[in-house]
Amino acid sequence: MQVIDGKKISLQIQDELAAEVTRMKAEGRRAPHLAAVLVGNDGGSLTYVGAKVKACEKIGYGSTLIHLGEQTTEAELLEVVHKLNNDPAIDGFIVQLPLPKHISEQKIVEAVDPKKDVDGFHPVNVGRMALNLPCYLSATPSGIIELLRRYNIETSGKHAVVIGRSNIVGAPVSVLLARNANPGNCTVTLCHSRTKNLEEICLQADIIVAAIGKPHFLTADMVKEGAVVIDVGTTRVDAPGTKLGWRLLGDVKYDEVAPKCSYITPVPGGVGPMTIAGLLQNTLLAAKGEIYS
Ligand code: GUN
Repeated sequence: MQVIDGKKISLQIQDELAAEVTRMKAEGRRAPHLAAVLVGNDGGSLTYVGAKVKACEKIGYGSTLIHLGEQTTEAELLEVVHKLNNDPAIDGFIVQLPLPKHISEQKIVEAVDPKKDVDGFHPVNVGRMALNLPCYLSATPSGIIELLRRYNIETSGKHAVVIGRSNIVGAPVSVLLARNANPGNCTVTLCHSRTKNLEEICLQADIIVAAIGKPHFLTADMVKEGAVVIDVGTTRVDAPGTKLGWRLLGDVKYDEVAPKCSYITPVPGGVGPMTIAGLLQNTLLAAKGEIYS
């Protein structure tokens, strides 16, 4: 059994991107610039956005954090999005989700220029992904594919079972695993809350992607010997006495599942750290105009 080290791979990618920034600057070009918009003071969002900005600084990207109050109106946020769309100094930007309830996330996501949508959330980018056209892939699905690629895990002809059909993970991962690409070419079964015989289906899987948000959902009796298990779960639970006061639980009962696997991602340190790498990769593509020229 091999543990897939997402933290190591994410840092490796960030080193590669930093080297690319150095090359760009040596050619007299400016560094890529990412902007992040945060509305309100949600603790998790503050942490995530802070980590994204810090990663930009570390690898030499420019970064701009726009922190707006909880009471910001939808019209005001749309105005900020339009300004970023039209600012030539900004290559790509994200609006951190979730947004306060009085703002329509769909409206905001659709207001972002697809050319600057480094989150890959705009319907144009999602549609282009489904059609296997150049696009910004959203961070979590692309992080999963990148881990499979960098660990040279064979996917062609394999049966991949994706548990969970969310717009941000399960649905796009199922599309990426099925497409004619490497990694890809899997036979994919997408399971969800109405799926019958889930255990039986999981037992047939060569690759399982658990993205349901239910801690310790996937148990050893659902996993075939030698399977590859990718755990996308990040449920926060109280952990009194620890530095943070909470810890992350994955969707996989790691201790009992790991011994059966050929490869497995831990939580934390698996898929999670890859999401920042994906965003930074997209920002470089945006700066170079490689997706939309
Ligand atoms: N909230 C949780 N994950 C993400 C993400 O990848 N992008 C944005 N914009 N918001 C998020």
